[in-house]
Amino acid sequence: MTQQFALLKNDRLLRALRFEPIDVTPVWMMRQAGRYLPEYKETRAKAGDFLSLCKDTDMATEVTLQPLRRFELDAAILFSDILTIPDAFGLGLYFEEGEGPKFKYTVRTPTDLERLPKIDVNSQLDYVMKAVTNIRKELNGQVPLFGFSGSPWTLATYMVEGGSSREFRHTKEMMYARPQFLHALLAKISDAVVDYLDAQIIAGAQIVQIFDSWGGALGHRQFVEFSHNYNREIIARLKAKHPDVPVVMFTKGGGLWLDIQADSEADCLGLDWTTPLDRARRELNNAQKILTIKHKKLQRQKAIQGNLDPATLYGSPADIKKAVHDMLSDVYVNDKTGYVANFGHGITQWVKPEHAKVFVDSVHEFKL
Ligand code: CP3
Repeated sequence: MTQQFALLKNDRLLRALRFEPIDVTPVWMMRQAGRYLPEYKETRAKAGDFLSLCKDTDMATEVTLQPLRRFELDAAILFSDILTIPDAFGLGLYFEEGEGPKFKYTVRTPTDLERLPKIDVNSQLDYVMKAVTNIRKELNGQVPLFGFSGSPWTLATYMVEGGSSREFRHTKEMMYARPQFLHALLAKISDAVVDYLDAQIIAGAQIVQIFDSWGGALGHRQFVEFSHNYNREIIARLKAKHPDVPVVMFTKGGGLWLDIQADSEADCLGLDWTTPLDRARRELNNAQKILTIKHKKLQRQKAIQGNLDPATLYGSPADIKKAVHDMLSDVYVNDKTGYVANFGHGITQWVKPEHAKVFVDSVHEFKL
């Protein structure tokens, strides 16, 4: 069933992704709804715990909209988490105060793998789709709405380790000692990710972002085999169903692999702060030419998103302004479009909201 929603008033971000002319640079912030906002903490306290907040349609909508009331953001992002998929697989997600996400069960043995059910996203994750539809209605066309998912590799690390990890001991053991097992797990997760993003788009998401937060923990060949190839396939499957819905592929630590990531149907690549944006632009232009020859088909230019270190916001307003100015001066080498300003990773809980406003306003003030 296709939903009827209000016409989009601010399409700056969508235009930039299509390399169309824009008035000013579009901007949003990864983790824009979160603990740096006192109003978020208030709603979160009412909800009790983080998962209850995600599962309550009205409260999830409220926290999604909170940053848009304070800042002139050019996009909203669904308030949820990438770990909803492992949770729907029955692994029992919970959050321990100050320790981050944890799972009751892990996936390490053939029995664990066989036990993973096929996820029916519309029943098991219906709370996510309800939130998407409700947020889209409440936005009333103000800005476009992002849906999102974790990448199979990133989700696999949480499912195998049973929570956050620095070393990825068990996942990497699996990768090098039992690669076929890891491939079987990644294939299962990929199917769930395609269904999940497809359902979010049907529910009202106008763009989707795939978070490959731990792609950068891999060697370059392993990145291709265990992360990129799955992301590429997911994007192709989504594009077959929704050719007009833009996909942003964000690989934290993936700046050295732009040529690899360019070989996908992603519309935009998200970058962390280690990659100079002028270099990213050049690399992607080169990759476009090489891939056009390789595939004997004209490849579209990829937009880029990022990549200020969110810690920049601990500095003074004048310093933030300068950092934004420097970043935007780097990116606009030729075309004055094809770019979405953001951080290179999520905003932290210690940032002053006034400083986030300086970031957003400085992006808009930059003369194209
Ligand atoms: O960007 C947004 O505003 C949308 C909401 C969003 C959250 N998580 C809310 C959240 C998004 C897009 C995510 C993605 C996510 N979640 C990622 C990928 C992006 C990244 O940061 O690399 C990852 C790896 C997770 C897993 C996760 N969820 C962790 C590691 C944690 C704990 C870390 C922390 O900040 O406490 C979460 C919890 C979480 N997800 C919070 C929020 C606002 C904090 C929960 C709280 O209120 O205590």
